[in-house]
Amino acid sequence: MMVEKNIPLQSFNTFRIVAKALTLVRIASQADIVAFLSAPENRTETKFVLGGGSNIVLTGDVKPVVLKVEIKGRRLVQETAKSLIVEAGAGENWHDFVAWTLQHGYPGLENMALIPGTVGASPVQNIGAYGVELQDRFESLDAIDLTTGQIFTLNASQCAFGYRDSIFKHGDKMGLKDRALILRVRFALPKVWKPVLGYADIEKKMEQENCSNPTPQQIFEWVCAIRSAKLPDPNVIGNAGSFFKNPTVTAEQCEDIIARDPKVVHYQLDDGTFKLAAGWLIDTCGWKGKSVGQAGVYEKQALVLVNRGSGTDGNGATGGEVMTLARAIQTSVYERFGIMLETEPVVV
Ligand code: EPU
Repeated sequence: MMVEKNIPLQSFNTFRIVAKALTLVRIASQADIVAFLSAPENRTETKFVLGGGSNIVLTGDVKPVVLKVEIKGRRLVQETAKSLIVEAGAGENWHDFVAWTLQHGYPGLENMALIPGTVGASPVQNIGAYGVELQDRFESLDAIDLTTGQIFTLNASQCAFGYRDSIFKHGDKMGLKDRALILRVRFALPKVWKPVLGYADIEKKMEQENCSNPTPQQIFEWVCAIRSAKLPDPNVIGNAGSFFKNPTVTAEQCEDIIARDPKVVHYQLDDGTFKLAAGWLIDTCGWKGKSVGQAGVYEKQALVLVNRGSGTDGNGATGGEVMTLARAIQTSVYERFGIMLETEPVVV
């Protein structure tokens, strides 16, 4: 366990926002966090768990103790009748883990290739892309209670997964926000693999490549190509992926919006409600390419806010600029469509 003071966080958040952690503790193993929590004052102190920093907006220096999770390890733990159970340490890079599963012949995560962040953060917001969500492949996780030091295991229903949501995002009595640190996550990957197709971008690739029966590796490569074409690489231009959730509306609300603008991109869900493409709503309000200070709306995908000054040390967007831009977008979408967009990243 390493305790450091006044540590710059610019390289630890994919938005590349300049801010400091007053205290940062690197957690490289379960023993590190157990040792940290063995001091009673550390159990009562407020703490902030940092994974890959790919889903946060820093609005100033972080005063709670930052626990930077660097727990590594990837292994096949068990084979059941239907699944291969694969486990990864919370500090493993998500995309590298997906690539590793494919190299070892454990397909099932390929649709979620190239999502930035760590394995430990993946259940927190129930990441998802191209028709597969983390909850579809999740088996269980081990975590440590940061107030008591107790280690516990949660299955999928205990994680209360929702769309980009879980028990780890909620701070109420039942929630685990800032109260738990995820140590490792286990995935149940199907022994009999079937491709998840049907998403417009994937179907387009199948047509282009004249391939109706892709391998997991092909889907992996297609997803990487699709994402690289429309999402900014955080190593080049700072961002936190989709900044807003796609809103869900009732059938009536959807009809009302279609009447206002017949081109609105919408998908019916199993329960009869409709999901609207937030990117389309923002784009239609004319936001693509607009900026507040150094915070901007990405030119190729209006759902992504970017830090236009992320390459230059100290001159990039502030968290305040990002949030001012986000609020202006929310207001304009609300005024035009009557829908209040919800933000996806955690504002710190
Ligand atoms: N669209 C526009 N203009 C834009 C952006 C999108 O008209 O500026 C339209 C597109 O043409 C398309 C529709 O909106 O018809 C949906 O766009 P896209 O397929 O790019 O997906 P999305 O709904 O914007 C969601 C996830 C992404 C995920 C993709 C693929 C959310 C908030 N976002 O984006 O997840 O990769 O689907 O499954 O659910 C993330 O969460 O960080 C993320 C990148």
